[in-house]
Amino acid sequence: MWLSAFPEGIMSRRFTPPRLVRRAMVLSLPTFLVLAGLVIAREMHVLTALALWGLVVVSLVGLIRPGMVDAARVSLWARNLAAGGESPPPPVTPDTPIEEIASSVAQLRRAWQARQHELALLAKWNESLFENLPDPLILLDPDRRVVKFNQSALTVFGRDITGRDLSVVLRNPKVLEAADAVLAGAQARDGSFDLPVPVPRSFQFRIERLGPSPASDAVAVLALNDLTTVKRMEQMRADFVANASHELRTPLATLLGFIETLRGPARDDAEARDKFLGIMYEQGSRMARLVNDLLSLSRIELNEHTPPAESVDFGRIVQAGADALMPLAAPRKMELRVTIDEAARHVVGQADELAQLAQNLMDNAVKYGRDGTAVEISLTMADRLPAAAGPALRDGPAVRLSVRDHGDGIGKEHLPRLTERFYRVDTARSRSLGGTGLGLAIVKHIVNRHRGTMVVESTLGQGSTFSVYLRGTLDQGASPALSASGARL
Ligand SMILES: Nc1ncnc2c1ncn2[C@@H]1O[C@H](COP(=O)(O)OP(=O)(O)OP(=O)(O)O)[C@@H](O)[C@H]1O
Ligand SMILES: [Mg+2]
Repeated sequence: MWLSAFPEGIMSRRFTPPRLVRRAMVLSLPTFLVLAGLVIAREMHVLTALALWGLVVVSLVGLIRPGMVDAARVSLWARNLAAGGESPPPPVTPDTPIEEIASSVAQLRRAWQARQHELALLAKWNESLFENLPDPLILLDPDRRVVKFNQSALTVFGRDITGRDLSVVLRNPKVLEAADAVLAGAQARDGSFDLPVPVPRSFQFRIERLGPSPASDAVAVLALNDLTTVKRMEQMRADFVANASHELRTPLATLLGFIETLRGPARDDAEARDKFLGIMYEQGSRMARLVNDLLSLSRIELNEHTPPAESVDFGRIVQAGADALMPLAAPRKMELRVTIDEAARHVVGQADELAQLAQNLMDNAVKYGRDGTAVEISLTMADRLPAAAGPALRDGPAVRLSVRDHGDGIGKEHLPRLTERFYRVDTARSRSLGGTGLGLAIVKHIVNRHRGTMVVESTLGQGSTFSVYLRGTLDQGASPALSASGARL
């Protein structure tokens, strides 16, 4: 194969007889001088000397030709390699310095090829790192145009932005100013901005100069960091503290007001004292309920990452919860109809939490159901699972607890927020019924911890159905194998 890279034409041009003879004549110069000396000293006849010198030149041509051919082949081969060609080392005379040179060049080439392979892998690795980083990254050329962007940036901008000016992609003056400063020579700039469409989002950005690259026009990288979730969490935390203090402050103010009255104007009024003490007891109980609910919520949240493993007789828990509500339902002529499918009686769970879950749902159904209507509670095997069901539910038998009331129902717009802490559809009504607004938040966290899911269906004017899906147990009383997969709600 290498022969085609070194055509004989080239070889013969380089080693024409006159060239070789000229070189041999140069090498035979000392012999020539000695013979000339002998001729001058009349020690040898001129013809003999010329014959001898001719012999030496011919011998030298024969001697140096193979070495020169080898050297030329190796030199052409090395030049071909340097130009990016691919060929094996040329055949040269063995055990000569030229052969050693050829094998050193071959070794050098192998090392260089290995390095090239390493560099290609490294480039590929860098490329996949760039593509898969969770933060959006955009590479810019000196004219502020997008050279390249990663998958995450594609998700944010929703289209191919290659070749576009940054101002078309991100119309934010802060980002553009920072980009211009960096492209004009500044090392780095950072800041934050909001994107109002398609959904409001907040970002932190940093734009930095890149070193020169032989493979790309990119001179700067713009990295975005999506702060939307963090900001939302911060807002929720602030709202939670404000709500919790507000909920506590109202009964506390009522209590203090009545204490003041009892110490002052109503000191000797026995009738007022009895009435006020009744109200104070109610407000005190309300505060105690609120604190208990908050503690429950934080306890459940704390354990949310470890799903319970025991098998629990949920049927008995549901029946006991319904019985406990009878005193509330009976005066309002409400009926609690409980249906328990024996196969669905046992679930994987924690008894106290499941009691709290059932209690909250049934309590709501009684509270928000209309007088004289029935609340239908059923515990059955779930033949179909909602789309939001996680793998833990899909892997085994699932049980469905459904609590249906015939109340006013809940407007669609409220459904997604029902499980937020302190969220109420009708705040005054909930408060007047002694509610803290934490019941469904507790239910949601219990369901999450149990790797279950909850679905709410409601029709205004007709009523609501709250369905909770939990993992059932095939073998009653047995402790099933657990899967630690996450839950959706
Ligand atoms: N079955 C239902 N029918 C109509 N509205 C309901 C029903 N269940 C809950 N809601 C609405 O959802 C809101 C939140 O319910 P949640 O159980 O979290 O709080 P609460 O019942 O007001 O108070 P708590 O349960 O802490 O005593 C309620 O205030 C009510 O407006
Ligand atoms: Mg409730």
